[in-house]
Amino acid sequence: MSVVSRFSPLRHEIAGIDVARLAEEFGTPTYVYDAAKIVERIEDLRQFDTVRFAQKACSNIAILDLVRRHGVVVDAVSAGEIQRAIAAGYATAADATGGSPPQIVYTADIFDAEALELVKKYGLHVNCGSPDMIDQLGLVAPGHEITLRLNPGFGHGHSQKTNTGGEQSKHGIWHAQLDECLQAAERRGLAVTGLHMHIGSGTDLEHLSQVCDAMEQAALQVGRRLTTISAGGGLPIPYREGDQTVDIDAYFKLWDATRKRLEAAFGHPVHLEIEPGRYLVAESGFLVAQIRAIKRSGANTFYLLDAGFNNLARPILYGAYHHMSIVPSGEGGPMRPLHEVVVGGPLCESGDIFTQEEGGFVRSRMLPVAEIGEYLVIECAGAYGFVMSSNYNSKPMAAEVLVQDGQAHLIRRRQSFEDLISGESIPGR
Ligand code: LLP
Repeated sequence: MSVVSRFSPLRHEIAGIDVARLAEEFGTPTYVYDAAKIVERIEDLRQFDTVRFAQKACSNIAILDLVRRHGVVVDAVSAGEIQRAIAAGYATAADATGGSPPQIVYTADIFDAEALELVKKYGLHVNCGSPDMIDQLGLVAPGHEITLRLNPGFGHGHSQKTNTGGEQSKHGIWHAQLDECLQAAERRGLAVTGLHMHIGSGTDLEHLSQVCDAMEQAALQVGRRLTTISAGGGLPIPYREGDQTVDIDAYFKLWDATRKRLEAAFGHPVHLEIEPGRYLVAESGFLVAQIRAIKRSGANTFYLLDAGFNNLARPILYGAYHHMSIVPSGEGGPMRPLHEVVVGGPLCESGDIFTQEEGGFVRSRMLPVAEIGEYLVIECAGAYGFVMSSNYNSKPMAAEVLVQDGQAHLIRRRQSFEDLISGESIPGR
């Protein structure tokens, strides 16, 4: 088979398996993940002492198990994510193997009742994102070590909706309240052993680099009790032709220099964590859909798929760009001419368009001429794809498949109608 560009308009296989075969075996829409790509991305980050996967990006327990087997620990933002981590084999402090660095860290801006209960039950490490969390944890689990998630006063993301720093962000403890929080922790008998900063998702190296200085200043304020710093997540990935891949080496060097200056100031080792979500899984994931209708409205040609924003919400939420390719069936595959098309889904809502820009502006895309029944693959969809899906219009959630060592494994079956209505009831019946 000839070598095709990663962003080719035609695609025959995913991780070496024929896409049409995958679609026929598992149906559409289906998310397919390439395990080898995830492992490759983990290897990129080996220089950091700890890689902590922000599972919110892709939390299927088979994916968690995969990253766990490759030495990656995990972040959880909810009771559900804590339980997923445990189900995937992560140890808790209650197990002898819970250890250091903690395998599961709960990072959030609040505790709900369920999360606080699990944190207490399993003795989980908490990265507190608000002063109230310090008080609430101190009441139920005095004596714990904690880390503080700081908002350094600035942030940046691929969209304003993914910027998690600055005054308009609800995330983290405002940097100027650090002293107050250190005192509150002391009153509650909690030991602050680390700091964490995450300024946004899908940002760039320039903004990420500014965090190092902010971290250094805050860490010096905490002083010698500090043993861990976390750079958070936020690493961008190349979603389209021409996008740069991030220079991980340069990024590590910046953080390593910060860490070394802190080690010199404190006279003891400082552990360096990174907490990526998107970087580890985005490129591994493909949403395979089928073209069900091709229609024209004035000057526009639409490909309508059996996948919609119920399956992949990033375009409607952020105007996010995802490369798309056609899986040619039958004759004339490589010779397909390109034409301008708008790609949409099946939902009863005008915003159900995969080719849109932020603000809901519908755009067209150059894609190969295709026929009804052919498959279309939405690429780089492994991060914030399935996990943000919904049952809108009573559509079942897609199946998920993991390709590992040349084998395709169903890691989540497609929902059935029974799944859709499970938990509902009619009064008196
Ligand atoms: N750590 C914390 C505390 C976070 O809040 C996040 C993401 C991450 C790490 C991982 O960020 P990443 O490495 O994936 O950029 N739904 C949006 C992204 C929301 C990110 C939320 N927090 C999207 O589809 O782009």
